[in-house]
Amino acid sequence: MNNFTNVPELIFKLGGTGSVSKLLKTNPSTISNWKKNNKIPKSYMNKLDILLKKKNLLTYTEYESNTRITSLKKKSKFSILVIISGGVSCYKVLELLRLYHNNNFDIDVVLTESAQKFITPLVVTSLINKKCYTELFSSEEEENMNHINLARNKDLILVAPCTANFVAKITHGIADDLASNIILASDSKILIAPSMNPYMWENKATQDNLKILRQRDIDLINPNSGLMACGEVGKGRLPDINEIFSFTRNYLLKKKEKRHTGFESKLKILITAGPTQEKIDPIRYVSNNSSGKQGYALAEEFLKLGAHVTLISGPTNINKPNVNKFIEVVSAEEMLSQVENNIDCDIFISSAAVCDWKLIPYTLKNKKLPKNDKLKKNKDIFFKLETNPDIIKFVSQNKKRPTLVIGFAAETKNLIPNATKKLEEKQLDMIIANLIEKENAIFGKEYNKIFIIDKQCKIQKSEKLTKHEIANLIISKTLKLHEEKYAKNYN
Ligand SMILES: Cc1cc2nc3c(=O)[nH]c(=O)nc-3n(C[C@H](O)[C@H](O)[C@H](O)COP(=O)(O)O)c2cc1C
Repeated sequence: MNNFTNVPELIFKLGGTGSVSKLLKTNPSTISNWKKNNKIPKSYMNKLDILLKKKNLLTYTEYESNTRITSLKKKSKFSILVIISGGVSCYKVLELLRLYHNNNFDIDVVLTESAQKFITPLVVTSLINKKCYTELFSSEEEENMNHINLARNKDLILVAPCTANFVAKITHGIADDLASNIILASDSKILIAPSMNPYMWENKATQDNLKILRQRDIDLINPNSGLMACGEVGKGRLPDINEIFSFTRNYLLKKKEKRHTGFESKLKILITAGPTQEKIDPIRYVSNNSSGKQGYALAEEFLKLGAHVTLISGPTNINKPNVNKFIEVVSAEEMLSQVENNIDCDIFISSAAVCDWKLIPYTLKNKKLPKNDKLKKNKDIFFKLETNPDIIKFVSQNKKRPTLVIGFAAETKNLIPNATKKLEEKQLDMIIANLIEKENAIFGKEYNKIFIIDKQCKIQKSEKLTKHEIANLIISKTLKLHEEKYAKNYN
């Protein structure tokens, strides 16, 4: 059952007073009273819990209105050119344009000829209240140099969706329409979000082209895997629009910071994952059931968005993801030392199940046994517990503290109070809480069910989702939080 601590927010999430009164078949004034008193009668809690579960808690509307409030207040102004090439996911990008427009971005849009088979310039214009560009050759004087004018003074040029054809064209410098001319004439940062049929994606021609583009410092938002519009399953889906929006906004904020500070502009993520193993003797160890899957999924999903990802992993049996930096460790002490070496990051996520203690063997006469000798069965020994370093606290209280420090809490009971206590004690920005129970046996499994608790102790509960879906939920929330912290400094 949900802990409804913020009733007005809850009602807002469910569509407002009118919608909730209809859904619950009650009088709107009853709902208004709940909001006023910040209290819900017990008899309605179950029904509301079910309604919440039916809703994906991070809806576009919620996301949009929240970010809109922040950005309008802060008057953010980024100049972005969106090139839409002719893929089946064109329609999704309309939602992205709406988000940019509503969040005060200075936005221009170019459609390729093929894109116009999927969406029209008119629908783009009505979303952004601006002309949508399509033609290279124009008889109007002010438009006859559009291929140059539109290429200049942009904080970012985003190609989304980027077709296999467009990938090939920019790789080889082809300039046969307005969009490809702009790319060739541009001095701005270019970010592409390829989206295509899985065979087109896997094709060596496409992969070779992408490799060349990466070498030329063109950044990529990698496609997701899943069921495609053509009915085939594989890699090639355009990532969630919320994520593209959030990622590009973070990217632009970082760029703005770079202007102020001269620092690197890629979002740097440091993740720990898996268990640690604490040696008892040269042969035996104590550890826990963590598989590392959730941390690896986070690393992979952040990587898809083009972030720079360092993954520090305890011993696991799963495939290493192809992250920017992968560091294997065994014990908590080794993990701490690697975290310290890599603390220069924007976001630290501690998903590793670090052993709280190590066991030190002693004789009954209280003499420490030599750690390089195997313990013998027939000897009387006992173990003293030695506390391991608290890695997340070390990071959160460090002089070089990243902008965000995010932890995980796995509990068998009193989940929310225990997780909230950890959040406060360790001064985290957010904590992901898991209840370890029969119905949510998460260790080693593909699925997970979480509660996300932020600094204001707002709680967001997820459905049972795959670990990659959970990773995306956490990333959406994390990027939004990062934007907010950042916006304070650099807007
Ligand atoms: C129904 C349909 C859907 C298509 N979807 C995609 C797609 O998602 N990704 C892609 O790379 N090409 C897709 N194509 C092929 C492109 O439209 C085609 O390569 C075109 O030349 C791209 O032109 P552009 O890159 O100038 O926009 C699709 C074609 C059709 C007919």
